[in-house]
Amino acid sequence: MAKLSIQDLKKIKENAAKGISLRQEQGRIKVTVHMGTCGIAAGAREVMSTLVEEIAQADRQDIQVVASSCMGMCSSEPNVTVQVEAEEPIIYQKMTANKMRQVFKRHILLGEVQTDFALAKM
Ligand code: FES
Repeated sequence: MAKLSIQDLKKIKENAAKGISLRQEQGRIKVTVHMGTCGIAAGAREVMSTLVEEIAQADRQDIQVVASSCMGMCSSEPNVTVQVEAEEPIIYQKMTANKMRQVFKRHILLGEVQTDFALAKM
């Protein structure tokens, strides 16, 4: 095995630092689609695919999408939680594809919380 030089070690360090910075940037906005049994039954899959399409169309690399289990609130499914940077997370309820498009365009892209669909602010 060849010995590593100081230059090799510096390159490894720089590449690792780039990876960390990229991951931090990707996590600027986090959108969680709650996909428990009742969420899926109520349409969470369509909400998720709409969200993924909107992100692709907007060509945003800084939005992290997470599928999680349910929140224990069957009656308000599908639920979607939007967390933008250091702001408090907003839980949206009874989401549909159209509501997801509106939340994406107005809240995620423009910072306007869509209070008509909001279940809670955490
Ligand atoms: S099954 Fe978990 S909220 Fe309905």
